[in-house]
Amino acid sequence: MNDPKFRLAARSGEGKFYLETYGCQMNQNDSEVVAAVMQESGFEYAASPDEADVVLINTCAIRDNAEQRIWGRLAEFRGLKRRRPGLLVGIIGCMAERLKDRLIEREHIVDIVVGPDGYRSLPELVRQAASGTKAVNVLLSREETYAEISPVRLDRNGVTAFVSIMRGCNNMCAYCVVPYTRGVERSRDPETILAEVRDLFERGYREVTLLGQNVNSYRYGEVNFAQLLARVAEVSPLLRVRFSTSHPKDLSDELIDTIAEWPNICRAIHLPAQSGSSRMLELMNRKYTREWYLDRIAAIRRRLPECSISTDLIAGFCTETDEDHVSTLSLMREVGYEFAYMFKYSERPGTKAQRTMADDVAEEVKTARLTEIINLQNELSLASNRRDVGRHFEVLIEGTSKRSTDEVYGRTSQNKVVVLPKMNYLPGDYVHVLITDCSSATLIGTPLC
Ligand code: 5AD
Ligand code: SF4
Repeated sequence: MNDPKFRLAARSGEGKFYLETYGCQMNQNDSEVVAAVMQESGFEYAASPDEADVVLINTCAIRDNAEQRIWGRLAEFRGLKRRRPGLLVGIIGCMAERLKDRLIEREHIVDIVVGPDGYRSLPELVRQAASGTKAVNVLLSREETYAEISPVRLDRNGVTAFVSIMRGCNNMCAYCVVPYTRGVERSRDPETILAEVRDLFERGYREVTLLGQNVNSYRYGEVNFAQLLARVAEVSPLLRVRFSTSHPKDLSDELIDTIAEWPNICRAIHLPAQSGSSRMLELMNRKYTREWYLDRIAAIRRRLPECSISTDLIAGFCTETDEDHVSTLSLMREVGYEFAYMFKYSERPGTKAQRTMADDVAEEVKTARLTEIINLQNELSLASNRRDVGRHFEVLIEGTSKRSTDEVYGRTSQNKVVVLPKMNYLPGDYVHVLITDCSSATLIGTPLC
């Protein structure tokens, strides 16, 4: 059954790996770490599964539909493996951590299962699987931050990059599987972060996004997040700095002041509210109230009047009433979000909500509430974009527009996408742009020369 050629290639470390990524920015960055670990160990990157000896799928477990997509994808790989029995299939990341060896039991084509803290062992496990023994490493770590590994920037535009500054999460929001899949919070040594950022800047990158489940609780020795942010901003005034995600309970005035001090720290804050109802927030174990959240928004508005604010919202969490839902809509209006990620509540096994609360909002009600939330957000995004028409912004060019090769696109400091005529602009250029038109998703601009 086994194709000896492929097995041998992977065993000697000369095989090719194909890598597919689902889920959040953190996962995308993890794939870049995985690519670095694999290449370092002699494996070569393959652009398609057809060329690969091992296919790695970096998975997400945050909602059931994320996992369903991956089951669907695995079914497709079953056909490929039938044609090429020597092909190895690895499931890595959050779903690997959640399901552990049950993945191998349920899905016979899976040869390797590795959780988010086990990536250094991947080459060895691929070789083990190549010699015929299925391989699993789902140990979570208290220390692993992949601090000194230089991520291989896959599919990036050469301008913007993610830099992971911490891993794991200690918050225990009642609905969330992340503390179980990514383990406890740990911060990465700031010197390794700064070295990575300087290297990116020297290679032509002009924007970094500092990543963590809750960047506001970053702490390494004496260095807190506001201090880290200032040190990263200091690398160059030509380097834009973003960060994600902030937890409202930890968004300090010191952080807002630091953003205000540095023009190259972007005027965009992602502040997941999840709900506008204090009763829901309590049940969700978010550790803040609607009033606290609005106070943080007011603090941002006072110091950073030009800052955009985006959020995450969940519709239909356990026991949510129409009144709670209306509170979410009114919070959205009150803040006037520029952008939102909006979800239906999806019960996740092992979470506090699954263990202690009933998932009792009917599916049709969840759908109806989510639709209302999405419709309102479209209105708010359009209104915010309309306010920008006639204003000018500095835009960092990222690449050629998907709509037309005569146009390029980039982003404002506020993280809004702007499309403008190509002229001679190259990715990485800063251009002053007058906004002339918009849709709810995009600004249209013309260069100010
Ligand atoms: N169901 C729906 N949405 C969820 N999120 C996290 N867990 C769940 C869940 N069980 C959302 C939250 C979080 C974002 C990353 O995903 O809004 O901020
Ligand atoms: Fe990212 Fe959470 Fe999905 Fe893991 S479960 S990939 S942390 S969104």
